[in-house]
Amino acid sequence: MSQPTTKADNIDTSKIPDVTNLTASTITESVHLINSSCPNERSKFIFKSLVQHLHDFVRETNLTTEEWMTAIHFLTDTGKKSSDLRQEFILLSDTLGVSTLIDILNNAKPPGATEATVLGPFFTEDAHDVPSGESIASEGKGDYLYVHGRVTDTKGNGVPGAVIETWETDGHGLYDNQYPNRDGPECRGRILVKPDGNYSYRAVVPVPYPIPGDGPVGKMINHLNRHIYRPAHLHAMIKAEGFETLTTALYVNGDKFLGSDAVFGVKTSLAVDLKQVDDVKVTKARGFPRAIPHKELHFDFIMATPEEGAIARQKLSSTWSKA
Ligand SMILES: [Fe+2]
Repeated sequence: MSQPTTKADNIDTSKIPDVTNLTASTITESVHLINSSCPNERSKFIFKSLVQHLHDFVRETNLTTEEWMTAIHFLTDTGKKSSDLRQEFILLSDTLGVSTLIDILNNAKPPGATEATVLGPFFTEDAHDVPSGESIASEGKGDYLYVHGRVTDTKGNGVPGAVIETWETDGHGLYDNQYPNRDGPECRGRILVKPDGNYSYRAVVPVPYPIPGDGPVGKMINHLNRHIYRPAHLHAMIKAEGFETLTTALYVNGDKFLGSDAVFGVKTSLAVDLKQVDDVKVTKARGFPRAIPHKELHFDFIMATPEEGAIARQKLSSTWSKA
């Protein structure tokens, strides 16, 4: 948005709608009217809707001055808690379900394609390239997990050249960038799939973790008598020429928080079983340093083309506008 630069002398108030003597029932139309000269049609539409809903909210709740000031202080604290390393507003958006709603509307996928879910705040740009079959985690970071499957299109053809970027917590439920002394990427990596679309890598079994609860959003969650946990999951972002980037995550079946994710990101199509592998010869053959049982996760990522994605979003918005 541009800076307000018009000087008082240059403003022709005769062309501005009069907004005096407003009542609770006329104020909304007046605000719409005074905003209606916005030259950007999309902005005009968004602000009209925002003002309408905000005013309706105030009327519907009969909001008190004290409650409104509580909200102002809460948003102020949310801003103060945010920094380059901590984004409290994203957390607020996540915990109110707004991030997931925006994701649902913007990332609808065609039938059969892998569903998308929220990126979350722990993605970093510095993951290393990890050759297929190798490990994204250092020894000692958690229980062994072998991940494998295929990246295909919606017709089942392998997608050569696809790159899976994956990241997860260690066995303590922390991402590498939550450690103050982080000296490089850990439990994250970029895997180039094989020409037939197959991929595999070694990782650790993800565990449930709490979202940061020491700020204003944590207080809000407490006030609402909710918990701050996310079920165990493995993030993945898959990029391939000719396909929409797929940002998704795989959730572990059996996790007690699967049905009550604090950020509303779980979709049952993304919930996977971890298979127990007790044959330690298989553990060794898969490259794990210690001959102990491990878990196995098999998942095929099915990518949508931009055309398929556009049709899916079109369908979704027509359902939505009929509702
Ligand atoms: Fe996560």
